[in-house]
Amino acid sequence: MSDILHTLEVQLPLPEVDRSYPIIIGRALLSDGAFWQSLIAGRGVILVTDDQVGPLYASTLKESLGGVSQLTEVVLSAGEARKDMASLETILDAALKDRHERGSLFVALGGGVVGDMTGFAASCFLRGADFIQVPTTLLAQVDSSVGGKTGINHAMGKNLIGAFHQPTQVVIDLDTLASLPEREFAAGLAEVIKYGLIRDADFFEWLLAQVGALTARDGDTLAYAIQRSCEIKASVVAEDEREGGVRAHLNFGHTFGHAIERLQGYGEWLHGEAVAAGMVIASQISVLRGTLDASIVEKLIAFNRAVGLPVEAPSSLSASDLLQAMSSDKKVSSGKIRYILLQGLGEAAVTEHVTTDDIVFALSA
Ligand SMILES: NC(=O)c1ccc[n+]([C@@H]2O[C@H](COP(=O)([O-])OP(=O)(O)OC[C@H]3O[C@@H](n4cnc5c(N)ncnc54)[C@H](O)[C@@H]3O)[C@@H](O)[C@H]2O)c1
Repeated sequence: MSDILHTLEVQLPLPEVDRSYPIIIGRALLSDGAFWQSLIAGRGVILVTDDQVGPLYASTLKESLGGVSQLTEVVLSAGEARKDMASLETILDAALKDRHERGSLFVALGGGVVGDMTGFAASCFLRGADFIQVPTTLLAQVDSSVGGKTGINHAMGKNLIGAFHQPTQVVIDLDTLASLPEREFAAGLAEVIKYGLIRDADFFEWLLAQVGALTARDGDTLAYAIQRSCEIKASVVAEDEREGGVRAHLNFGHTFGHAIERLQGYGEWLHGEAVAAGMVIASQISVLRGTLDASIVEKLIAFNRAVGLPVEAPSSLSASDLLQAMSSDKKVSSGKIRYILLQGLGEAAVTEHVTTDDIVFALSA
């Protein structure tokens, strides 16, 4: 028997059709046949996963999908390096060869890489098919599965080819986190604490108090951490689906993080690890500006240490290295780097006015 703990709605502005969708958080959802039959409602399914997640969970989900009219399974090689045009083609080829129609549903079973690629494949299959996100990493559960950003990488940079395409459901089965490697789990926690820093001071303090339970992957603690993270992401996306304004706040720590990832060579540091160090740098600059109390940075550093996340950029990187790498980030607007800083705990703001001296200070603080 599955156990649905919480359902929340991502409300989207209406153009012509209602694109709002539920995020369903629970346990044993993958094995609940009746639950899946009601979601699928007789449609064909293109199930996409990777070769690490597939062997763990695909057979359970396929069993639950049982009597669907048409089931195509695509198993991709795991990893960021395979988030590319060739994998996208593999998904689309399989769907076309099996003669799926636009009414078929894509189901993304895996981390953010599978989710982003499957969503993008759905967005361009026969000019747009529906898809369900079934995120299996903590990062994907609290971040990438919600909000409709989909895409693939290009040799020129990450996520350069993609589309906004919202899922029709996000199904978060907390049981899948049991098999997640330690580093991947910690990387997800970086995005969780980010929500507290940019939007919810109480949540930040709650996370600090729960650090032992979080690292022990206590079920109820994780369920609330994921629920609150999704609520915050959903409210930001509802306010600004296409990142014209407040959605940029979700990039807190990411401007520096992307630069660290790029300079270290992709795959060396996980995305969440680079974001963790980036959030410390951005917080230090906020302290320098007088908008954030230094005690918050100390708390953030203590949290990162306790969960196994970095607390600073690699010492080999200088302020000018970071600045140079940030200048070529795709989020640079009209040649200006946009930084997200804190105006206080739980409140973020965008600025273009960060100097090399500010970054030197933050790196040496
Ligand atoms: N669309 C968005 O808004 C958004 C937001 C943030 C990040 N992203 C994207 O998400 C991607 C990163 O996602 P990720 O961190 O989930 O990485 P990932 O998808 O590469 O997963 C990490 C690794 O964990 C494995 N894995 C996944 N679930 C598992 C489980 N339950 N048990 C054991 N192993 C498991 C995967 O096979 C993979 O090897 C990046 O490509 C990033 O660009 C997108």
